[in-house]
Amino acid sequence: MDAAKTVLITGGTGFIGSHTAVELMAAGYETVIVDNLCNSDKSVIEGIEKIAGRKVDFVEGDTCDIEFMRDVFRTYEFDSVIHFAAHKAVGESVADPLKYYRNNLVSFMNIVELMKENGRSNVLFSSSATVYGEAETLPVTEETPRQPATSPYGNTKQISEDILRDCCRAYEGLYGIALRYFNPIGAHPSALIGELPIGVPNNLVPYITQTAAGIRKELSIFGNDYDTPDGTCLRDYIDVVDLAKAHVAAVDRMTQGRMDRKYEIYNIGTGRPVSVLELVQRFSKVNGIELPYRFVARRAGDTPAVWADASLANEVLGWKAGRDLDDTLRASWLWQQRLM
Ligand code: NAD
Ligand code: WQD
Repeated sequence: MDAAKTVLITGGTGFIGSHTAVELMAAGYETVIVDNLCNSDKSVIEGIEKIAGRKVDFVEGDTCDIEFMRDVFRTYEFDSVIHFAAHKAVGESVADPLKYYRNNLVSFMNIVELMKENGRSNVLFSSSATVYGEAETLPVTEETPRQPATSPYGNTKQISEDILRDCCRAYEGLYGIALRYFNPIGAHPSALIGELPIGVPNNLVPYITQTAAGIRKELSIFGNDYDTPDGTCLRDYIDVVDLAKAHVAAVDRMTQGRMDRKYEIYNIGTGRPVSVLELVQRFSKVNGIELPYRFVARRAGDTPAVWADASLANEVLGWKAGRDLDDTLRASWLWQQRLM
């Protein structure tokens, strides 16, 4: 394996990691996936291999276990890591903060620690638009100040960004990029990989597809009295395949030594706000399904509106969201049907 062309993907059997593995392989990279399967399934590897048309190196284990990770670093040679492995349920993080601080921060510190011992090395971190909280100006740019985190989950993203910034500053040879994802949705158009929400989904699109499938009785739309065009919240829904390609662009930039600074941040979104109601109606229309929904009270902690100014990623990474929202919503439904 060529270390410069090999990428370690932690959390690689998860939703975003699996799509990223596929796009990295399509771009000519080798991938090594580490995942403890706490929120994914081993069968995802088959889906990745079918799409990519080749074998994937998969190692089952916990990124919080530094001795296990040391073994992975001894076994494989790579210059870059994409760190997806984390817990991500905002509500659960409020109920059990230590679970989140331990898993998300210990795993990330292990990765940075091992990478800094690796000579020239590149760390790509999965951050989130959650770091902006309720922003004062919209759309948000990378310069928009972060707001104090409203959940332990969000706090782990802010702390991890700071860890990466400080370590890149301190350790020669260590380079970092944080990608701040907006709302990732969709699935691979082949329907061979997608999102696997466990239990009742918290996120909008899985709830929509499960309602369409009859698993849930109806969708509750949280609030229609916001100060937005139709009263429902505005978000920036980014197709997971587009999002995966942003990772390839960022890894290219790192491995080709094109970074201007040792630590860079990019917003990864479409730049287009879409309301909850609009998303629901478009899903119904493109898939020809009547979706039962009703308006209920606002959900605590929801931001009325947030969408990205992604021009930095457009210009510097040469990346742009390209998938049509209708196609994304078709892929989501196709994937839901595959799950049944
Ligand atoms: P996911 O749960 O589908 O994937 C995460 C993967 O990490 C899972 O396969 C899980 O089994 C694995 N994992 C968790 N802890 C681990 C550990 N200690 N050791 C090994 N594996 C571990 O989630 P996702 O939606 O693919 O999210 C990937 C990353 O992107 C996360 O860091 C998440 O916080 C971030 N993110 C997600 C969203 C979103 O809405 N999906 C938005 C912004 C940021
Ligand atoms: C989207 C919109 C809801 C469910 C979360 C995390 C964020 C990031 C992405 C990781 C909101 C509305 C939802 C439902 C609804 N994750 N909704 N009925 O809250 O924008 O972001 O996921 O980093 O950190 O907070 O995404 O999909 O939960 O909600 O009306 O059953 O859909 O109110 O306006 P959110 P979401």
